[in-house]
Amino acid sequence: MKEISVSLLAADFAELGRDMKMCEKAGADYLHIDVMDGRFVPNITFGSLVTDAATRVQGLPLDVHLMIVEPDKHIDAFVTDRTRYIVVHQEACTHLERTLRFIKSLGVGCGVALNPATHPATLDYVLEFVDQILIMTVNPGFGGQKFIASALDKVRIFNTVRTEMGYNYKIAVDGGVNASTIAEVSRAGTDIFISGSAVFGADDPAAMIRTLRGIADENA
Ligand code: DX5
Ligand code: ZN
Repeated sequence: MKEISVSLLAADFAELGRDMKMCEKAGADYLHIDVMDGRFVPNITFGSLVTDAATRVQGLPLDVHLMIVEPDKHIDAFVTDRTRYIVVHQEACTHLERTLRFIKSLGVGCGVALNPATHPATLDYVLEFVDQILIMTVNPGFGGQKFIASALDKVRIFNTVRTEMGYNYKIAVDGGVNASTIAEVSRAGTDIFISGSAVFGADDPAAMIRTLRGIADENA
């Protein structure tokens, strides 16, 4: 089952509550929450006050993407009754195995993200228990960037390894996912498609979500 996770980064921040509700009404599977600290990535977005607000105005499960250094200090703050995944960056974790186990111990799905230049073998020792692997197809920090197709090689590798080893993780792809790129992303073996500007930039976001899901399913 292919799932669409809509990134709030492309919302109108003066109308955040309205746009959160819109994602649910438009048929998204998850609300993707991009937390940036101005250190791990050049940009600063928002923190857990926004995740808390998201639980009050809409009912979608939250897919929290932490683009922050020292994520262990802040993981607790993002646990809500709607938090489905908390995803940390491999590049930001000195003790990745410990951090992922900690997330799991809080009753939340644990995920790990890889920047475009990070090697897939860096995840070898967590594959058997991780719940989500997020492959970045842009360098994180901003919405609306150009899709880096070469990063899909990692999706193919993780998809093959999952089948061969009987692992259970979901594979997510984040950055530049739109109606032109999603077929290739789906064929590589992706389960969760994260999209911001394509959905919020559409005249009809609900129709765009249906289109994206339709193309993903056709190219499964
Ligand atoms: C990038 C973020 C993404 C991104 C998606 O650092 O993690 O979630 O904003 O936005 P689009 O779909 O515009 O590339
Ligand atoms: Zn993201």
